[in-house]
Amino acid sequence: MYLSLSLAALAATPLVCSSSISPRQAQKVTVDLSKKYQTIDGFGFSAAFQRANLVVNLKEPKQTEVLNLLFNTTSGAGFSILRNGIGSSPDSSSDHMNTILPKCPSTPDGTPDYKWDGKDSGQLWLSQQAVKYGVKSFYANAWSAPGCMKTNGNDANGGNLCGITGTSSCKSGDWRQAFANYLVKYIQLYAENGVKVSHLGFLNEPDFTASYASMLSSGTQAADFIKILYPTLQKNNMSDVGINCCEGTGWSVASGHASQIAAAGVENMVYAITSHEYTSRISGTMKTTRRVWQTEYSDLNGGWSTSWYSSGGAGDGFTWANTVFNGIVNSNLTAYIFWEGVQDRATNNNNNEKLILVDGQSYTVSKRLWAFAQFRIVRPGAVRVGASGGSNLKSAAFVNTDGSIAVVMINSGTGAANVGVSLTGSTLTNPVVKAWLTDNTHDMSATDVTVGTDGTASASVPGRGMISFLVTEGGA
Ligand SMILES: *[C@@H]1O[C@H](CO)[C@@H](O)[C@H](O)[C@H]1NC(C)=O
Ligand SMILES: *[C@@H]1O[C@H](CO)[C@@H](O)[C@H](O)[C@H]1NC(C)=O
Ligand SMILES: *[C@@H]1O[C@H](CO)[C@@H](O)[C@H](O)[C@H]1NC(C)=O
Repeated sequence: MYLSLSLAALAATPLVCSSSISPRQAQKVTVDLSKKYQTIDGFGFSAAFQRANLVVNLKEPKQTEVLNLLFNTTSGAGFSILRNGIGSSPDSSSDHMNTILPKCPSTPDGTPDYKWDGKDSGQLWLSQQAVKYGVKSFYANAWSAPGCMKTNGNDANGGNLCGITGTSSCKSGDWRQAFANYLVKYIQLYAENGVKVSHLGFLNEPDFTASYASMLSSGTQAADFIKILYPTLQKNNMSDVGINCCEGTGWSVASGHASQIAAAGVENMVYAITSHEYTSRISGTMKTTRRVWQTEYSDLNGGWSTSWYSSGGAGDGFTWANTVFNGIVNSNLTAYIFWEGVQDRATNNNNNEKLILVDGQSYTVSKRLWAFAQFRIVRPGAVRVGASGGSNLKSAAFVNTDGSIAVVMINSGTGAANVGVSLTGSTLTNPVVKAWLTDNTHDMSATDVTVGTDGTASASVPGRGMISFLVTEGGA
């Protein structure tokens, strides 16, 4: 069973060009519904390190406007995953994420004195809002264990979790079980407040000693902890919480983690291998039986830019369209998570590590957000199917759980192209087609679709533009 997608003959439909450059020669793309690839978990962002508070502190109507930009599936990016930082710091100074265990008991098996502030650095409120928009994936991710459980006695500056291999110098004992119990407690606190944590991570960039919350670990050492964490989740009726590991700074590091986790025999206890893209970019497919998520990346060097296409720079929306596309289509990722959803102007010289700049009571949206928005028609649980052909047109197709078909395309050419979706071969009896596009002057804007007598639905996509088609069952 397949859908045939083709660039309609230039003569067939008058072009609505947003550019004076002529479109390239007609190309044909074929979508093959019988070719099934990975199941998509979703797209997301983080508001860790108190960035969530920027939204908490916005007054109406701006607060709702920003929430809609992030989570609304019809007017915004429709993000479906929120990556929250599980705090490890003893205080909330600067942008620290405070821990629920500021002081450990004197021994690992002592009774912990948890302190819950009901805020979790603004992340609980943001999560509760996300629930209202239908978000179901909440990825709780600890950058470190509390310092009192570590070899260096500090939640910052690296160090290891006491109890894993290579920590014999740790005088206070083995804190693995205590750390697992602590993570369970965090999940319980969220559940009590209406947010069901779906995924759990216990490391962030464990190959990098940061001056902020950080904890070092190899894949082998991570396995030492997973062996305790997995049964602890089971015992606490949390077997549906997926363990993610290990947030390496880049694809090479993450691939190393994956092979060590497999060698240690705990691969089956892991839901997804997680990678960042800072020290090495994603390329090829990772050798693992697990799902693979890209969980944090952004342009850390460029000055704040809202451009779709300026010079193909690291902060351009068009660059991000290609980055996300590459991860999903060429590297078998099941989730792509940007770094910060929102950030202020002062942090890191107002760089591009955020999607939305929140500056006191005003905000500015980057085109990176709209690049992600083009993927919002690909909902969690969608299965990627075959799409091939077209030398200047990148295309990816997905079948959503409701049977609708989402086709996301990037026009790499500099000229406008007229693209057509042919419904021949589809099982939909009364297909309704909608399309949206993003370029320099559009933000996931609904665009006209012309349906020909043969059922082909056509639309024009500008040069260096993105178009997404959603084909749904129209009903009787
Ligand atoms: C999403 O945006 C649409 C259009 O503005 C609006 O009607 C709808 O209420 C919003 N959804 C939520 C959950 O707020
Ligand atoms: C166990 O978890 C399930 C799903 O999260 C929930 O519906 C159920 O009430 C829980 N049972 C107990 C005993 O906590
Ligand atoms: C893609 O990932 C899935 C898990 O999401 C896995 O089952 C499959 O084998 C992977 N395919 C390739 C080519 O790596």
